[in-house]
Amino acid sequence: MSTARPITVREAEAPGPTPVASVLADGAPFSGQASPALSEPLLRVRGLSLEYRTRDHVVRATHKVDLDIFEADRFVLLGPSGCGKSTLLKSIAGFIPPVEGEIVLEGRRVVEPGPDRIVVFQEFDQLPPWKSVLDNVAFPLLASRKVSRREARERARHFLGKVGLSAFAQSYPHQLSGGMKGRVAIARALAMQPRVLLMDEPFAALDALTRRRMQEELLQLWEEARFTLLFVTHSIEEALVVGNRIALLSPRPGRVRAEINAHEWSLASLGGAAFQAAGARIHRLLFEDGAGTVAREAADAGLETSAR
Ligand SMILES: Nc1ncnc2c1ncn2[C@@H]1O[C@H](COP(=O)(O)OP(=O)(O)OP(=O)(O)O)[C@@H](O)[C@H]1O
Ligand SMILES: [Mg+2]
Repeated sequence: MSTARPITVREAEAPGPTPVASVLADGAPFSGQASPALSEPLLRVRGLSLEYRTRDHVVRATHKVDLDIFEADRFVLLGPSGCGKSTLLKSIAGFIPPVEGEIVLEGRRVVEPGPDRIVVFQEFDQLPPWKSVLDNVAFPLLASRKVSRREARERARHFLGKVGLSAFAQSYPHQLSGGMKGRVAIARALAMQPRVLLMDEPFAALDALTRRRMQEELLQLWEEARFTLLFVTHSIEEALVVGNRIALLSPRPGRVRAEINAHEWSLASLGGAAFQAAGARIHRLLFEDGAGTVAREAADAGLETSAR
């Protein structure tokens, strides 16, 4: 299916400012610095096809998806509704076995859920209402038997502090706003210290202002903790802001159409002409047919991609 395959540049984010922005600002379409030191991806997805089987038919949700996610990446899966983003995330989490292909995390094949992959789902009503905020955050840690009760509560307090909710440790979920519940869910996931944090449209249900604030907080947390994030969204703008790398998925079944380096965009870029132009180009990449078109568009756009 691949007619054009321009230079693939994979660059895991190094601490501190990234050199890619200036490279792209100079207008070089496929440039950047490969990262030989980080050549081994933390998470490797190879030829992954996923299906739902009902009694009378089979729905192929993704088709031969390849992804390499490196340590401290903020990797975004971007694509229209129904293209298999959630299915892909659930499979990486270990809930859906592949019909072909494999998922390998740190050299080990993923065959079931595990504490090294924690998912934050779209609905924040994942918090048991009868547990205090502190107990909600500490609970999965206790359940995993990784740490003592005291350490679980200490770690929970630490991560509640990180999301600015220390004052609400003894509150109950119903006493929190939607955004605050979201932060509890993130604190709970981070407290598990997973190898990969998986987030499925975590901010989709929030109003625009809260969503923006949550994106900001997530990025701030990432600056502090440098965790590896796999983030699903169907918002181009959110993908550009949150991600350092973006995989564009085509609809039904989901395939990776192109991969984009998004280091240069941040919340500070919002509203700028260059940011809007990048968004418009991604829109075209997502919705135009044909790999040749994708490659040509990417080159025109000065986007650093590898088209599939
Ligand atoms: N439990 C299920 N049984 C059968 N088909 C399913 C099931 N869940 C999802 N699908 C189908 O699999 C495909 C991918 O669904 P998925 O939920 O992964 O998409 P998505 O990209 O996450 O969409 P959205 O952006 O709307 O959340 C769709 O065609 C959907 O109809
Ligand atoms: Mg989904």
